[in-house]
Amino acid sequence: MTAAAARKAGFDCHLVLNGTPPKIPNGNLLLDIILGAKVHYCDRKDRDKRLFQVSDQLSEAGKNPYVIPVGGSNSIGSVGYVNAMLELNSQLDDMGVTLDAIIFATSSGGTQAGLTLGAKITGFKGDVLGISIDQTKIGSNPFPPVLTQIANATAERIGSDIRITESDCSLNCDYLGAGYAVPGELEFNAIKDLCLYEGILLGPVYTARAMGGFLDLIKKGCFTKHHTVLFWHTGGTPELFAWADQLREVFK
Ligand SMILES: Cc1ncc(COP(=O)(O)O)c(C=O)c1O
Repeated sequence: MTAAAARKAGFDCHLVLNGTPPKIPNGNLLLDIILGAKVHYCDRKDRDKRLFQVSDQLSEAGKNPYVIPVGGSNSIGSVGYVNAMLELNSQLDDMGVTLDAIIFATSSGGTQAGLTLGAKITGFKGDVLGISIDQTKIGSNPFPPVLTQIANATAERIGSDIRITESDCSLNCDYLGAGYAVPGELEFNAIKDLCLYEGILLGPVYTARAMGGFLDLIKKGCFTKHHTVLFWHTGGTPELFAWADQLREVFK
């Protein structure tokens, strides 16, 4: 999306991505290439450092680079999801619908920070539940403080007095599976169920993990037919093509 937006705005786009170049580019990477982005590969642990190295190199070459952090997860990126929550709120009013919960995939935090802040601003009473794709609540980099930091910087940016605390951040970290971008049974079953029952495509990395978690929470009785739950589909369907071989097996 960044590569596409950069094209439209007339900017060059440099992408710092985890890993090494694959033999056959597919999925999002193929779209990046089609959109003319320049890809810089690095180890996942080095990506922040590499981001600024690339930016410095561009500055030295006389360019004027603008760095977007991982996931666009800062106070600028999150404004988009505050606005999205305001829009949802007016749609719900028009439809006369009250939600018990909103469920979505969470990873670098901008989505959740924006939705949680937007929920507090609009007086949304339901649960705004992020299903973690790769973050944990404990350990060396616990996720809740990341969410409050982004949300409160966003509140400040838009001139809102509302502040988010860790108790406002609803986070489920039970579906991390075999790790980031390693889809398994949970994800492939969610893809299958949503396709075959609803005609909706999920992406194996984010939305299928979140939907798989949601379906499991339903199985466990956390959500019943008496609840009205919105699954917020954050996109990512081009990821499907990067798992073509496994998906052919799942659907044969
Ligand atoms: C398709 C999709 N859904 C959800 C997310 C998670 O959003 P965030 O990084 O804002 O937590 C991402 C992040 O890259 C994504 O690509």
